[in-house]
Amino acid sequence: MTTRVEIINDFLAINVKPGATIQDVVEASGSALPFGCRDGQCGTCVVEIVQGMEFLSPKNAKELKVLKEICVGTCSDKARLACQMKIEKPNGVVRIKY
Ligand code: FES
Repeated sequence: MTTRVEIINDFLAINVKPGATIQDVVEASGSALPFGCRDGQCGTCVVEIVQGMEFLSPKNAKELKVLKEICVGTCSDKARLACQMKIEKPNGVVRIKY
């Protein structure tokens, strides 16, 4: 029971179990998606969820605060912080663009 995570920019895909963080996925896949603080504070890891938002954990307070600061009129509702997301549900596809 896994969910497929695709990182579009890097042409990478990996199947992971619920509970895996996107940070784990990025590191396991060899993606070049950049991270800074890894703690939901700097915004370096902002990505767009092209597909599969419903398979991810909801935005937490840190994520909402940083997205509000860095996305002034520029990000869509699909913007997320890669360091704050987890896969929550199996049997899905999550497509990420950075
Ligand atoms: S790496 Fe800093 S907010 Fe994600």
